Amino acid sequence: MVARVIVVDAFDIVVFGATGDLAARKLIPALFHRDEAGQIPQRARIIGASRRHLSDNEYRDLARGWLETHVEAEDRRDGAVPRFLGRLGYVPVQADGDDGWEDLAAALADQPDRVRVFYLATSPDLFGPICGRIGRFGLATANARVVVEKPIGKSLASATEVNDAIGAVFPEERVYRIDHYLGKETVQNLMALRFANSLFEPLWNSAHIDHVQITVAETLGVEGRAGYYDTAGALRDMVQNHMLQLLCLVAMEPPTSLAADAVRDEKLKVLKALVRLTPETAAEQTVRGQYRAGASAGGPVKGYLEELGAPSSRTETFVALKAQIANWRWAGVPFYLRSGKRLASRVSEIVVSFRPIPHSVFDGGAGPIGTNRLVIRLQPNEGVKLWLMIKDPGPGGMRLQHVPLDMSFASVFNVRNPDAYERLLMDVVRGNQTLFMRRDEVEAAWTWIDPILDAWGASTDGPRGYTSGTWGPSAAIALIERDGRTWYEEDAD
Ligand code: BG6
Repeated sequence: MVARVIVVDAFDIVVFGATGDLAARKLIPALFHRDEAGQIPQRARIIGASRRHLSDNEYRDLARGWLETHVEAEDRRDGAVPRFLGRLGYVPVQADGDDGWEDLAAALADQPDRVRVFYLATSPDLFGPICGRIGRFGLATANARVVVEKPIGKSLASATEVNDAIGAVFPEERVYRIDHYLGKETVQNLMALRFANSLFEPLWNSAHIDHVQITVAETLGVEGRAGYYDTAGALRDMVQNHMLQLLCLVAMEPPTSLAADAVRDEKLKVLKALVRLTPETAAEQTVRGQYRAGASAGGPVKGYLEELGAPSSRTETFVALKAQIANWRWAGVPFYLRSGKRLASRVSEIVVSFRPIPHSVFDGGAGPIGTNRLVIRLQPNEGVKLWLMIKDPGPGGMRLQHVPLDMSFASVFNVRNPDAYERLLMDVVRGNQTLFMRRDEVEAAWTWIDPILDAWGASTDGPRGYTSGTWGPSAAIALIERDGRTWYEEDAD
């Protein structure tokens, strides 16, 4: 199957933080892939901007190296790399000072009407200063838009400040807050599954669903990002954004269309319906952990504190929690969320567990009757599984088995799975905000997260240690088992 490509209008994109990790690993490779696929018109320009003094050619050399590292050799077809590098330019610009801004304005001046994208792949402290200068130097043309990365703030108060600074220059309909999980193919598939099939929606409520689990587990540690990570922790880094967005897509009412505000209005209602935790309920319904030395991804690994090079830190690298949504559809259906670094395997999945059958017509010899579960595997091995009970084949009476109806996307669609950034960058150029977070969503998510942070901050207990390569602290297992349920494990059923 060949993916369909619709060429976008010519655009200029200015990447601030152009020599940083995100540009190297994600943005430049994503733009290359879209160019290689023929989606980016000839006249489009990609301009790197950062404080380093580089010429256009020096920046192209850097980008060539990134493509060699981050793009598979088979995707770097003859001529594609030089053609792409030819689109790149570079302007040294000081984000928190005025140096270089006139040069940037001059580089863009000949195309004032074009779609102009400012991508802020920088520390969030610079969002305000950069937006301020984009405004002051007259770069915020009618067709200009800004893309910002998480984290947007560290709390509701700081997120409001960041959003105010951005909003002083760009109206909301030109602000694109990236949550790269929304760009993942399987996450969008969740919407296809729910709203392009009539099968699930009648069952999608507390009458039929027992609980929902969302797991985003990584085997990696903090990988040289300890400076940032130690000021954030798993709750801010993963739950406030990615995991709450997944929860919203599972729990929201069907939007009237996929128009950006139709979808975002529904997600916002879910965030507002989340039951706020108190210090008491936070102690019961949340678990935080921090990895210790152990074995992960095939070898021995250091503990978090050793990686950090600090004798102590209360930053959590793991969180598990039970969330409740107070509305008609979901009352009484817990959503169990867990995410952590240095866990037993890399897996992101959503598990929708249906209620047990009300009465069994089978005798004991049939064996236990497992529950139906819909498992949406976000990564790796993207796909969907529906666990059903069937009869064990052959004579010998009625014995039952729990088996999955298994659809692996790799075997159904024989195409490269595009990186989330490819889709999202093209959506910015097209002006489609559906997969981006609106200001009020980000702020509603912080409104729910802040009391948990406060409760943790006030508690004398720190995060519980867990050995790298395990599934986190045992308290996380107890959190769900107390309710008579277990964390889903692939093939454990
Ligand atoms: C980022 C977090 O947003 O998502 C990282 O800051 C995390 O800590 C990453 O590793 C996970 O993304 P993915 O796409 O690898 O699941």
